[in-house]
Amino acid sequence: MAAENGDNSLAAPLDTCRIPESALYNAALMTSAEKQLPPIFPHRHLLGIEGLSAADITALLDLADTYVEQNRQVDKKGSVLRGRTQINLFFEASTRTQSSFELAGKRLGADVMNMSVGSSSVKKGETLIDTAVTLNAMHPDLIIIRHASSGAVELLSQKVSCSVVNAGDGAHEHPTQALLDALTIRRRKGRIEGLTVAICGDILHSRVARSNILLLGAMGARVRVIAPPTLLPRGIDRFGVEVFHDMRKGLEGCDIVMMLRLQLERMSGSYVPSQREYFHYFGLDYEKLGHAKPDALVMHPGPMNRGVEIDSAVADDINRSVIREQVEMGVAVRMAVLDALARNLPNELRI
Ligand code: NCD
Repeated sequence: MAAENGDNSLAAPLDTCRIPESALYNAALMTSAEKQLPPIFPHRHLLGIEGLSAADITALLDLADTYVEQNRQVDKKGSVLRGRTQINLFFEASTRTQSSFELAGKRLGADVMNMSVGSSSVKKGETLIDTAVTLNAMHPDLIIIRHASSGAVELLSQKVSCSVVNAGDGAHEHPTQALLDALTIRRRKGRIEGLTVAICGDILHSRVARSNILLLGAMGARVRVIAPPTLLPRGIDRFGVEVFHDMRKGLEGCDIVMMLRLQLERMSGSYVPSQREYFHYFGLDYEKLGHAKPDALVMHPGPMNRGVEIDSAVADDINRSVIREQVEMGVAVRMAVLDALARNLPNELRI
């Protein structure tokens, strides 16, 4: 204390100075178990937004806010996952999600292993379960999974003893994408409640749309979906959203315009006459954006198909588009999710 106050006179001579054992632990190097961080998320897995309360979502977003700051420092490294093993198991292609989960785990001090599995070589059912049981025998603490089949991640979560995070399962859910979108919105607009959010494009095949509809609804936003009837799931109105087939009408008075890619890989047959015609009616350009509020933000989960669902100039407009910020928020949100789940993991030996 004396030294901190600039007064060295009371400092003990070096040879007689005994460093208390507890001080040998650098707090920054302590794991969540050593720090005894309080649990903030009452779930073992993150399989979807469905089943989460507004309080669960807010707790993750608040923690993610702290990681945004940590990620902007020169030294981004923490240690709450030190000693933990994280396996990234991606049965489907990914750029943003896989790399941000990898960075998130490493920045928290975990050992991260990436398994990229070509979807063609892996079948559903027994093969997936076999994979899960094999990996489980290696004592991972967290498994992050992306799979082309809806429900595959939940199935796998039943076969393992660690925590499982859904990084996208078919057209079902992509919870960390909805969380990073919410974090982006909350930081830019100061709130989510009461905002009007338009989700536009291929709603039918989009797990991003589904998770966002659930999250935004839980947080008190008004959600609109804008798409041709062929790209909307039957019974979408049961989700408490307003449905529009005319983009200009749907964007009227919106705070957030969330664009979605045409998920051609999930389409068998033709859902739109041509990509050119699709852009004409549902592609976001400045003229259509002019129908939203003057300060409306443009979002896109990526990967973008420029000239198909979004005009390049709008996507790159730093005054309107927060697409790059979404990527930054993605790392912070995934750190928050890994941290929150790890706090619930047992700390004693498991055999
Ligand atoms: C999305 C996905 O994979 O569901 N991308 C992502 O995770 N950033 C959306 C998409 O593929 O269009």
